[in-house]
Amino acid sequence: MVSEANRQSNERLPERALNTPTHPFVDIHCHCLPGLDDGPATMAEAVALCKALSDDGISTVVATPHQLGRWDDSNWAAPVRASVARLRTALAEADVPLNILPGADVRVDERLTALIGQDKVLTVADAGKHVLLELPHETFIDIEVLLVELAVMDIRGIVTHPERNSFLKRQPDAVRKWLDHGCILQITAASLAGRFGPEAQRAAWYFLDMPFPLVVATDAHDRQSRGPCMSEAYAMLKEHRGRRIARLLCVDNPVRIVEGREALAVAELASRGQNL
Ligand SMILES: [Fe+2]
Repeated sequence: MVSEANRQSNERLPERALNTPTHPFVDIHCHCLPGLDDGPATMAEAVALCKALSDDGISTVVATPHQLGRWDDSNWAAPVRASVARLRTALAEADVPLNILPGADVRVDERLTALIGQDKVLTVADAGKHVLLELPHETFIDIEVLLVELAVMDIRGIVTHPERNSFLKRQPDAVRKWLDHGCILQITAASLAGRFGPEAQRAAWYFLDMPFPLVVATDAHDRQSRGPCMSEAYAMLKEHRGRRIARLLCVDNPVRIVEGREALAVAELASRGQNL
C-alpha cells in the first residue's frame, strides 16, 4: 500500500544515478538528518557526515531517522521528507556529491502496518516495498506476525543489525523461522569490521552464511565513533567471500531495495549469472 504522497515523492527523488563506478555503494540505513534523533545535531554536522559517506565510496544514502520506540509521536513521514529536502539543498551548496532518499529505522511495534497505511511510518526510499525493522538491543521479540502483516501489504521487513541484538548474537539461528515470510537481514558494516566487539562480529559473519537475502549498510550516526566503514566491509567481504558476494551485499541488493525490487540471497547468484 503506497500512499499518493509516497508515490509522488518517490517519482521525483532519484535525480542522479543511484551508484557510479567511482561511488559504487548505496547505503539503505543511515542517521544523517540533523536534529531529529541520535544522529548529527546540526546541519553542519550532517553535511560533514555526508561528506564522509561520499568519501567512503557511497553515492546514494537512505536517511533513516528512528521512528517509534523512544521517538514515538515524532519523526513522522512528512517532517522526515522535509528534512531530506533541506539536507539535499545544503549538500548541493557544499558541493557534496551524495544523493539522499527518505526512509526510517522503525522500532518494531504492533501499530506499524496501520502507521504505514496512514503515511506516518516511512518505507525504504519511499518505494513502498521494504521497511527497516529495529529490534530492541537488549531483548528478543518474535516478529513473525508482523512480517505476515507486512507481506499482506506487499512489503518486506528488513531486520536491522541482528548481530547487535543481545539474544540473537548468542543464538543467531532463532531468525530462521522468519525466512518463510520474506525477511531480509541487514548487517552493519562496522560489525563486520569488529567495531561492536567480537561477539557481534562473529554473529555478523555467521548471518552471512544464512539463506536470507542480505544487505550491508552503515547505520552511521557521525564521522567518528559511528562512521561509515562501507569500503572496509566491502574489502573484507571481497577477501573472505569473493567479489560477487561483496558486490551483491554492498551494491546490487541495496540498489534493488531502493528501486523497490526484490533483494537476492547469495544462493540465487549462481542461477542469475552476471545478469542481476
Ligand atoms: Fe539505525
